[in-house]
Amino acid sequence: MVYDRYGRPIRDIRVSLTHRCNLRCIYCHGEGELDPSGELEAYEIERIVGVAAGEGIRRVKLTGGEPLLRRDIFELVERVSSVPGIEEVSMTTNATLLADKACELREVGLKRVNVSLDSLVPERYREITGFDELNSVLRGVDEALAAGLSPIKLNMVLLRGLNENEFWDLVRFSKSKGAILQVIELVDLGNEVFQRFHVDVKPLEEELGSYAERVVTRRSMQNRKKYFLPGGAEVEVVRPVHNSDFCSNCTRIRLTSDGKLKPCLMRSDNLIDIIGPLRRGADSKTLRELFLKAVELREPYYGAKGVSRLPKCSQ
Ligand code: 5AD
Ligand code: SF4
Repeated sequence: MVYDRYGRPIRDIRVSLTHRCNLRCIYCHGEGELDPSGELEAYEIERIVGVAAGEGIRRVKLTGGEPLLRRDIFELVERVSSVPGIEEVSMTTNATLLADKACELREVGLKRVNVSLDSLVPERYREITGFDELNSVLRGVDEALAAGLSPIKLNMVLLRGLNENEFWDLVRFSKSKGAILQVIELVDLGNEVFQRFHVDVKPLEEELGSYAERVVTRRSMQNRKKYFLPGGAEVEVVRPVHNSDFCSNCTRIRLTSDGKLKPCLMRSDNLIDIIGPLRRGADSKTLRELFLKAVELREPYYGAKGVSRLPKCSQ
């Protein structure tokens, strides 16, 4: 296992497979998008995940853009899940293309999916995502369940005046599907979207706290709380904004779709190019050093309660 200079273990890698997407969510932070020129090849991703696995990474989350737009998605999942040491490969998807692919994805090694589902009302879904795709998404969720890609998590970004009032509908829907609802606080992208739609999720956390039968704090998941509600629904609240708990418990590193290691979700100014050296024939030792360099660049963006910077190691 590798630790960063704040003593945080690095346990997972989030791999963006493409910056392309077939939706245009108003809040999208387009994680993969940096250099639209090239996407990593499946075998390149396999090699980089192999380097990470060699340093103790056990879980891989495939993201985008929309990962299912990759034509080689089955090969990719198969390669990544067969990397020695990798125990779990999951995917964050908008699920518009999931229905026909769920079964084969499961067969090639995918374990779970997180599905973006901000609204159950067709017009509102279109308003948020730009497309009339709610039905395909709902089919995707059912097929994923049938294929055993579970537990499914449903991601709902809370948006003022848009889907705030659907929270309890989504709780009920998630419960009916045996899914876990993740309510996500909108992250500021530096444009007017945040001003217009940001909702403070703290009051919701309080409401859930008083209503829940049981609340579990999950250290491995950025200290997020999981609320077990009467009747069996499960809700998690993700509050990344100005939350030092989020940073202190962050165990992730990211790989962008154009081949750069990204030490922190909130920053794009400290990326480490790994695909350049890999394509120029770098050996495993060099790639490992680049990985460790990216780990070393991890800084808690919002500060980190209870952890302080460790002195630089001389060896
Ligand atoms: N704020 C919060 N979450 C976001 N996501 C994308 N952009 C944002 C943002 N600005 C999350 C959503 C979506 C997933 C792909 O990424 O949960 O479901
Ligand atoms: Fe962005 Fe995901 Fe929405 Fe696509 S589905 S626009 S990647 S948030």
